Amino acid sequence: MRHPRGIACPEWFIRPAALPPVPGGKVGDRLMENAFHMDDTVQRSPRPVRTFLRLLGYLRPYRGWVFGAVLLLLLLSLLANLVPVLVMRAIDNYVAPLEPSRDKTAEISGLVRISLAIGGLILFQAALRYVQVVLIALAGNRAMHAMRSEIFAHLQRLSVRFLDRNPAGRLLARVTNDIDKIQQTIVEGFVAGISDLVTLAVVLGVMMWINWKLALVMLIPLPAVALVGIVFHVRAQRAFLEIRRKAAAMLAWLQENISGHRVVRLFQANTRHETEFIRRNRDHRDEWLGQVRNFAVYFPTVEFLGVLAIVLILFYTGWNPARPGSAYIPGAGTVGTVFAFVFLAENFYAPVRTLADRYNLILEALASSERIFSLLNTPPEIQSVPGAIDASGVRGEIEFHGVWFSYNEQPPVHDDDPGWILRNINLKIAPGERIAFVGPTGSGKTTLIQLVNRLYAPQRGSVLIDGIPVEKYDLRSLRRAIGMALQEPMLFSGSIADNIRFGDPGLSREQVEQAAVRVHAHPFIMRLEQQYSQPCGERGSLLSTGQRQQIALARAIAHNPRILLLDEATANIDSETEAALQQGILEVMRNRTAIVVAHRLSTIRHVDRIAVIHHGAIRELGTHDELLSLGGIYATLYQLQFSDTAS
Ligand SMILES: Nc1ncnc2c1ncn2[C@@H]1O[C@H](COP(=O)(O)OP(=O)(O)OP(=O)(O)O)[C@@H](O)[C@H]1O
Ligand SMILES: [Mg+2]
Repeated sequence: MRHPRGIACPEWFIRPAALPPVPGGKVGDRLMENAFHMDDTVQRSPRPVRTFLRLLGYLRPYRGWVFGAVLLLLLLSLLANLVPVLVMRAIDNYVAPLEPSRDKTAEISGLVRISLAIGGLILFQAALRYVQVVLIALAGNRAMHAMRSEIFAHLQRLSVRFLDRNPAGRLLARVTNDIDKIQQTIVEGFVAGISDLVTLAVVLGVMMWINWKLALVMLIPLPAVALVGIVFHVRAQRAFLEIRRKAAAMLAWLQENISGHRVVRLFQANTRHETEFIRRNRDHRDEWLGQVRNFAVYFPTVEFLGVLAIVLILFYTGWNPARPGSAYIPGAGTVGTVFAFVFLAENFYAPVRTLADRYNLILEALASSERIFSLLNTPPEIQSVPGAIDASGVRGEIEFHGVWFSYNEQPPVHDDDPGWILRNINLKIAPGERIAFVGPTGSGKTTLIQLVNRLYAPQRGSVLIDGIPVEKYDLRSLRRAIGMALQEPMLFSGSIADNIRFGDPGLSREQVEQAAVRVHAHPFIMRLEQQYSQPCGERGSLLSTGQRQQIALARAIAHNPRILLLDEATANIDSETEAALQQGILEVMRNRTAIVVAHRLSTIRHVDRIAVIHHGAIRELGTHDELLSLGGIYATLYQLQFSDTAS
């Protein structure tokens, strides 16, 4: 919240500062420390099955593709075993036949045939793999596209209260990281995991079919591989979590330093912050190096165990040597069998190595889904009721009836709890009346006007427009009937005209210019290089604060709303421009109900009534003259400002 300028307030008028003292005095650093929220690292889904089923729901429209991809994978895992079998045949029939034949040409043509078959098979597998990868990638991407759109639409409807509480970074992570994780899992984890399992079963079956004794020998290192895999994945997952935590800490620091670069420079915090960044960067690096060590141990170990299986097969066959002059090895079968097993051992251990990885991926994706679903499950607190009334024709009478409001999720119980930001507000504003809210910083003025267009909802009492509670109106039409200029003008990155048209893209160029003329923005816009097409920059950063405020004001009035809420709409504008602008605003306010919040009392001279708000309650209400003669808060404020101006 910005502080008003140039206003002296009596001591008693200002709320005591509620900020706790910061030990060590590193205020800035502690502030930035808080930017990272650990709930983003939830690792396990509490309801995996339900979450998984809901996730599958997103794939339902593409079930044909997913089904096709799974079928292709099954086919591929079957085909992968054909090559070893063909090699076995080649060796046993033509390279080292059990009964050597005299016909060399027949042997060679047989070899050529098998070689061609192997080549053809590999090409065929490549083609199938291509189709499978494309199918599953299409399904995954489309499903995630739908989910991302759903999250965006939901975020648009979620209440302001929810968005106040959830930092932008956390919500961004939902739309980016979490979705990526799920997509990756659909493409690499889930379907491939099925295929891994099937491959294992098929390879095992093929091996048993060829020679069950050799198959058992090949399985000897399996328990060791499984054990190493489990130990590694527990360690690796812990390290990944730590890496993510360190990366987030580094990112949060980076982000706040870049977006707050002016303040960092201004307060000479560069060097201090650089040292801190180096520290966070180093932490992140060290954590990664630890992880690299994990991997560097794991992969050679399982590789070794895989090769061990082959060695065991070789030893077993060496133990039972081939009969002299024959390619038959007792217990092991033919020479071709041994060759086939060398291939098959690799086919078997490759999925064993990746299975644990896939399992992890699925767990992580479930955690990501859980976070996304909990976001999607958050109901929009404020929405239109069925059969809502259209607000476009309202006359503009506004009434606050016994309104109590708290920003806390659980409203306080006792009336004197400081959690109440507004306390028992009763006020009736006639159609076409112009009323000003004045009062000290933090007294609740902004909060009060935000109840009119339902940015928030009061916990007790109600706000009525034309005698009907605001929640009975259709939300869209209600917000359209009300023009609001926020205290902090927020523009978007389009052109000036786009920004003025924000509430109604159908506004003509004339209407846009008319609005700009009213708020006296036209002269400065015409001096810009591209005039109304001039880009405003991210958050309007290419304009001055006062210019931003003028555009925001033009945006509020451009679509001719019945009710105007102006929250310090001219606070950043120089007195000369303001005087010109006031005239325009006065014209705009004719025949409309308007609530104006202002700290500079000179700007509210023309209003019909003034309400003084203090600690969330209306303390004085009346015309300027009435309040002056009352000799209360308003009179004191007025005297102070008047003497300020005089000196
Ligand atoms: N989004 C929010 N969440 C929680 N508390 C809030 C929020 N916005 C304001 N408050 C609290 O509500 C109180 C009233 O704030 P409000 O913005 O209504 O004051 P104001 O009268 O508009 O002040 P100013 O003159 O500085 O604009 C303040 O004490 C503030 O700390
Ligand atoms: Mg305010």
